Amino acid sequence: MNMKSVLVVVSLLLSVAIGLVLGRGGVARDPGEKRPLIGLSLDTLKEERWQADADLFKKRCEELGADVLVQAANGDDTRQINDVQALISRNVDVIVIVPHDGAAMAKGVQAAHEAGIPVIAYDRLIKNCDLDIYLSFDNVKVGRLQAQWILDHLPTPGKGRIVLANGSKTDNNAFLFHQGAMEVFQPAIDRGEVKIVWEDWTEDWKLENAKKIVNAAISKLGPNGFDAVLAAADGVAAGAIQALHEEGLAGKVLVTGQDAELVACQKIVAGTQSMTIYKPLKKLATKAADVAVKMAGGNPIIATQSVNNGLIDVPAILGDIFAVDKTNLRETVIADGFQSEKAVYGSAPQN
Ligand code: GAL
Repeated sequence: MNMKSVLVVVSLLLSVAIGLVLGRGGVARDPGEKRPLIGLSLDTLKEERWQADADLFKKRCEELGADVLVQAANGDDTRQINDVQALISRNVDVIVIVPHDGAAMAKGVQAAHEAGIPVIAYDRLIKNCDLDIYLSFDNVKVGRLQAQWILDHLPTPGKGRIVLANGSKTDNNAFLFHQGAMEVFQPAIDRGEVKIVWEDWTEDWKLENAKKIVNAAISKLGPNGFDAVLAAADGVAAGAIQALHEEGLAGKVLVTGQDAELVACQKIVAGTQSMTIYKPLKKLATKAADVAVKMAGGNPIIATQSVNNGLIDVPAILGDIFAVDKTNLRETVIADGFQSEKAVYGSAPQN
């Protein structure tokens, strides 16, 4: 068997695997087929946010006459590299990746490039590789807005004891959120007004790991030992709130978040989560689909920003984000149709 036939056989086997993962029987590609085929490789579909991204991305691609193969790796780097290999074997035109580990995925980008397939990093940067383009939000601003919200709402103004429940160290975004938060906290720390009393990173962004961080903070500092938890995202906030709840502290300690997930919005209404960051996912997913389909057609993409990934300045498109709390849920998340009034407030709308 020569190399080409080996590749064809491997490709056929992988096609069956993808068809099963998608439960959609796979997309048949005839030779000379004109419909673009886009691969989407996700870290996970287990968080509400990524399910929304995948649905919106797929919908837009289909509107543009392209098909999408979706893979989710459940936070497993080896599996995600295999997912990318499978998409390469399916001869996709472009691969869009949300990496679980932004450093480990450089290998996936290299493999795609060897097969002549361009790669888009979606929301999370892929480090130290010749990435084609990066689409995300202003992630440093996420951290800035979370920290500023805490400073503006401390029970005793100018006196804050803060627990930092950062994101996952495998995710470049987690460092950007942290950087933004510290830019805002540092001057207040220097003035002696704010103290970071506990800090840890939430492995794999998992709720149970975030809960452990806040459990540990409570055991070490006591139930009255801190005023706020800067939780990097809504899943982290959910873990933090569980830990606070066990001690009767939910609603008494400020808790930030990110993603405007439905449960987080409901907790904002209930008062157990203080705020979240709304990132207009529809804009991101739509833009990514537009870029992917354009790239599939060999068309040039215009990106006015760039982000250094350790090897190159990657052309980037970064959207804006918004702080949301109970005072502006309606004008932001609900007005945008991201969550419904009924789902957020329950069947009886409140004022
Ligand atoms: C980040 C993302 C956040 C959040 C988090 C956990 O990379 O930017 O919006 O979803 O992952 O999945």
